[in-house]
Amino acid sequence: MCGIVGYTGGRRASEIVYRGLEELEYRGYDSAGIASLENGNIYTVKRRGRVKSLDGLISDLDGNTAVGHTRWATHGKPSDKNAHPHVCGKFALVHNGIIENCEELKKMYFSGVEFDSETDSEVIVRLIDLFYDGDILSALKNTASLLKGSYAVALICADFDGLAVMKRNNPAIIGYGDGENFVASDAPALSRCKTITILKDGDIALVTKDGVNIFDENLQGVIRERIKNLAEPSSLELGDCPHYMLKEIREVPATVVNTCSAYLSAEQKIKEVLSGVNRIIITGCGTAYNAGLLGKRYVELIAGIPAEAEIAGEFRYKRPIVDSKTLVLAVSQSGETADTVEAAKLARSLGGKVIAVTNSPYSELVRLSDATAPVAAGPEICVAATKSYVGQVAALYLFANTLAGEPIEKCIGELEAVSPLCKKTIEHIEISSLADMCARSNGVYFLGRDTDYAVATEGSLKLKEISYIAGDGYPAGELKHGTLALIDIKTVSVFIITRKELAEKNVNAVEQVLSRRGKAAVVTNIESVCEKLRKRAEIIRIPECPENLSPLISVTVLQMLAYNTALLLERDPDKPRNLAKSVTVE
Ligand code: AGP
Repeated sequence: MCGIVGYTGGRRASEIVYRGLEELEYRGYDSAGIASLENGNIYTVKRRGRVKSLDGLISDLDGNTAVGHTRWATHGKPSDKNAHPHVCGKFALVHNGIIENCEELKKMYFSGVEFDSETDSEVIVRLIDLFYDGDILSALKNTASLLKGSYAVALICADFDGLAVMKRNNPAIIGYGDGENFVASDAPALSRCKTITILKDGDIALVTKDGVNIFDENLQGVIRERIKNLAEPSSLELGDCPHYMLKEIREVPATVVNTCSAYLSAEQKIKEVLSGVNRIIITGCGTAYNAGLLGKRYVELIAGIPAEAEIAGEFRYKRPIVDSKTLVLAVSQSGETADTVEAAKLARSLGGKVIAVTNSPYSELVRLSDATAPVAAGPEICVAATKSYVGQVAALYLFANTLAGEPIEKCIGELEAVSPLCKKTIEHIEISSLADMCARSNGVYFLGRDTDYAVATEGSLKLKEISYIAGDGYPAGELKHGTLALIDIKTVSVFIITRKELAEKNVNAVEQVLSRRGKAAVVTNIESVCEKLRKRAEIIRIPECPENLSPLISVTVLQMLAYNTALLLERDPDKPRNLAKSVTVE
């Protein structure tokens, strides 16, 4: 949610920052901008739209120090004037986060002053300028002490040949080079740096080409660990794929295998955290929550322990019951989703234990958790999560087996056997006719029971977010309790049927849709279901596999369905309107 980048060194800074913005663009693509420092002067270019909109403008920026920003709008619509960097006096600033007391601060310090933008961020640069008397550190400290909310800020100052950075509740990472240094919102954008430092909340850093000095909120110098950057480069290469979404769906099989190896190294620590635990809560947002719904069923089905799945934004405000025997699994691709991170912090503050299920080893979530169940999906660029969902499901499956005391090698074998079935499904799926039905429909409903219901929720979210077609993921048994009223000739109902003991019940639900003239499709690996519904419903046959693992396969069908429907409707599947990949604000 907004990407910030900074560079200081010997090279042309605007080009390096531009490249960094391209790598961070999935964090927001409402507008972009760069400010560069040249001979004590600051030059800024910014535009509504994607990073590309800066093409042709940055050739005028010659300096060796610059900051840049790619925006997901919170305060103020996407526009040139609301784009970052914001400039005041000797400063140009980029910000990721939300300043909750911005109006209060404006009234208190800038009554009668006309702001250049409608953003909350502008108040930060104005405060820094107000407090500046030649000492950047004090100006930042005084400003930080007034801000409520979240921020990762990078700025340049006409008097200082370097970058200043401060952060609270949003990520800021320093990357070290040779005679040059960097700052960025996340580690993959710093993949050319061999070592990095992850700043802590309250930190203020001064970064020059020769070194980095870090201070805490009282301006005491602090040493923060300089660690090896293991992040894979967020490869912008698409290979033969027209979109990241397709590329990433094709990476699902490798994600399953890689997540297994990563889990093997993490299992011992997970076992230690499990000691004394008698209650499991799985929390996350969006797709990660949907993976949590499956995780809950895995814990119950495999370990026989009651489990709950809670949306993180609900969990953190419901005064949850957590004690030292409660384990919260916080699921998050990015590891920086504000609601999930806060839910995890809350669980810890109540005495519970936390395991992060995440794709981001350097994230805030990992740092605050007792252990990590790693998801090894590699960088995911498309805003719609695909391979990371499958990786989360695989990690949760392995976790449930650890909890049950099952030998992990056996479960890894099962997952590794499913990986080629995912590959086969992705490569050979024939989805165009169903995608066409969905693209022409007035609404698409995804229905299933038990684990198939969990997959239905994810199928629905995927289609909504990239095709903008309304619909819902619903338990099939609930259809007749309300949703059936929506069914008519213009709706499509997609059933996922992979649990044999529930197949008959699901076929009944399909019949209920067909008798209301609704269109129906079935994703199944059960022969009797195909026979009963042949010629009356669109059948998508998927390979058979152990029942608990069919979600890894069926979800790839729904991901491909969403992708193909979006293409038919000429939507950009990688950058859906109004969204951003990491939601670091409430
Ligand atoms: C997924 O397609 C969505 N973009 C969104 O729901 C996402 O899963 C959610 O914001 C959580 O993100 P996280 O996994 O990084 O925490």
